[in-house]
Amino acid sequence: MLKIRQPQESKPVSPTPSHATAAVFAACLSGCVAEHPQSILHPVSPAASTIAWLWWAMFAVCTAVFLAVIGLLLWAVFQPARPQRDRPPGGSTRFIVTGGIVVPWVILVGLLVYSLQASIALRVPESDLTIRVVGHQWWWEVHYPGQGIVTANELHLPAGEPVRLELSSADVIHSIWVPNLNGKMDLLPQHFYGQGRPNVFWLEADQPGAWRGQCAEYCGLQHARMALEVVALSPDEFSAWVAARQRPHSEPATDVVRRGRDVFFSDQAGCQKCHTIRGTAAIARIGPDLTHIAARRTLGAALLPNNRTNLAGWIADPQKFKPGNLMPRTNLGADDLEALVAYLETLK
Ligand code: CUA
Repeated sequence: MLKIRQPQESKPVSPTPSHATAAVFAACLSGCVAEHPQSILHPVSPAASTIAWLWWAMFAVCTAVFLAVIGLLLWAVFQPARPQRDRPPGGSTRFIVTGGIVVPWVILVGLLVYSLQASIALRVPESDLTIRVVGHQWWWEVHYPGQGIVTANELHLPAGEPVRLELSSADVIHSIWVPNLNGKMDLLPQHFYGQGRPNVFWLEADQPGAWRGQCAEYCGLQHARMALEVVALSPDEFSAWVAARQRPHSEPATDVVRRGRDVFFSDQAGCQKCHTIRGTAAIARIGPDLTHIAARRTLGAALLPNNRTNLAGWIADPQKFKPGNLMPRTNLGADDLEALVAYLETLK
């Protein structure tokens, strides 16, 4: 029987200098990771560079102001007291007007102008490729309308050119944020924009690579596990990726795969009630499109690497990995589960 451990009495821990040192050390180490797949400070696009420069400028100015204020405070505290008659007439008024009004005004207006300039630089540019992204609790539906491709939780794009994103949501408000490539933008349910148009956004990657994106608007229990991968490919690789996704998938070639397909469409598994596999009778759109599931790098919205073990584990009990998601447990025998996984693995 499963034993539930009682929470143990724990003594309150008060921070000590060694805790502080450890925290600073950890913060420094986190900046030393060789790869930075999710960081605003390692931009790989014009938009993210603009944002990173603005961040550094604000950090520098605010640090200078902070040091100046603390310096003046210490100076005031440790200044020997002077009698009133020794003070220059009008001296403190001049100091208050300069330090309290003129200098803050110049700094704030400067930062305002800089940030306005940055937001102008972030406008959506002309683009040859449009991708529609629909937010769901808790995954991303990804359409390439011009190419007739539907996938999930992965955005493939050609490196070196801007890609236009049209963002909407099937349920609550979500927000897409791929820090290395751009800022955030909300995905709104249709009743928010009514007859208007979905939010338009853009991503561009200077070079081929993979970066992690995250839902940035609290959207329910598994908000933190609503991630996605953005994979930028060289133009040739991207064309090959598109061509491979457009190819109709082949009929099952072996007995195991045929059995897996039958399991997929069986009432016991019921997969086709929620999922689409293009070119088959499965056309439901409640869950992610599975036409190319085997070509994806991850499962469960960038939660698990896409391999045989994780796929079988996910199908058997998705609630174990992501409690609260819409996919129910499937009570399949080991052979049926194995056959189903073998079928799904042919869907490239
Ligand atoms: Cu979707 Cu948070």
